[in-house]
Amino acid sequence: MMEFKWDDREKKTVTELYSSGEEPDIQRLLSGDWKNPFLIIDTSVQRLWDGRLQPAILSASGLYVMEADEVLKNTFTLAQIWESMSSAGITRDIPVVVIGGGIVCDIGALAASTYLRGMKLMLLPTTLLCMVDACLGGKTGVNMAGAKNQVGTFAPADRVAIMPSFLETLPEREFRSGMAEVVKTALIGDREIRDLLLGTDDVRNSNARLLEIVRRCLLVKGSIVEKDLREEGGRMVLNLGHTIGHALESASGFGLSHGEAVGLGMLAEAGIAVAMGGNSDIPDEIGRLLKTVGLPLGLDGGIEKHELESLLNRDKKTRRDGRIWALPFDWCDCRLVQLSLEEEDRVLPGVLSLLKA
Ligand SMILES: NC(=O)c1ccc[n+]([C@@H]2O[C@H](COP(=O)([O-])OP(=O)(O)OC[C@H]3O[C@@H](n4cnc5c(N)ncnc54)[C@H](O)[C@@H]3O)[C@@H](O)[C@H]2O)c1
Repeated sequence: MMEFKWDDREKKTVTELYSSGEEPDIQRLLSGDWKNPFLIIDTSVQRLWDGRLQPAILSASGLYVMEADEVLKNTFTLAQIWESMSSAGITRDIPVVVIGGGIVCDIGALAASTYLRGMKLMLLPTTLLCMVDACLGGKTGVNMAGAKNQVGTFAPADRVAIMPSFLETLPEREFRSGMAEVVKTALIGDREIRDLLLGTDDVRNSNARLLEIVRRCLLVKGSIVEKDLREEGGRMVLNLGHTIGHALESASGFGLSHGEAVGLGMLAEAGIAVAMGGNSDIPDEIGRLLKTVGLPLGLDGGIEKHELESLLNRDKKTRRDGRIWALPFDWCDCRLVQLSLEEEDRVLPGVLSLLKA
């Protein structure tokens, strides 16, 4: 059991990570304070795990099932969830439980943090990305006007219960996408994760190793977020790979998955760090890890700076006089560096040329 405490309201998230033999029955999990919750569930998870979820669904105070599609992560769906809570007569003493990946958890947690000014919340992540990253740290959100997570709150869940067996049905590409966040977390805060990844060619089927990787990722993320819940400083290092990654993801028309784009983003941003005096071995180390977890090291045809420019300008770390970058200078030495537009002009073309497959 891990507990992460948040600065402003003395709130904590109780985080339970179960090994395969120890996972509780969902009905047992939803007892006591968590009895008869309002459930928000990913459609695919409901279908694939019907037998496991059915008793909880039958005893729920209300149910909202949604497709995990980035396009549906919007204010319209949010309003539908509020309406559904209202029709079900949900009162403040009824908890909300969300079962799904990052999309459903982000919007479900936003609905929970705003309905009746805030409900008790438990998250049951079902994707690797959500287990190692999105379930912890209280960022909730929906997309608006074509921009990701434009509307949201900082509202950490009261409880997170991680049952890795849900990963058995996760499509391979989604699993690899989550692995990009694992590589990022290793680089930011725990070199042991690197050794755990390199020690096998089939991490997905190494239960104990995977469990240890998830545990270590949660510890790294928890320790960063506990100190800066509202992303006023240090938490920004968690954006490593995402500045270029988000731009690549959009530029590809979402043909690249989030993880594929973040992996490439990390490689490019490591190149910027080298240009600023960082350890020149880091790009190769990242490449080795990305290869091990099955993520691409380059883009067919490559990409030019002018193709990313307007997308980079929409990054939340862009300021009037430059952009703040999270750059991996070395293992466990990720720094926030503000680059002027002139510095970007000097460094980015060379760095992006490294991404040509
Ligand atoms: N709040 C945060 O701190 C944070 C951090 C990182 C990412 N995010 C958000 O997370 C979202 C991406 O989340 P994600 O990568 O977890 O994916 P997701 O929620 O989009 O799910 C990916 C796909 O896997 C399916 N799926 C989910 N669990 C499954 C299972 N157990 N078996 C079979 N299929 C399953 C879904 O239906 C969907 O098709 C983005 O919207 C991103 O903005 C949030």
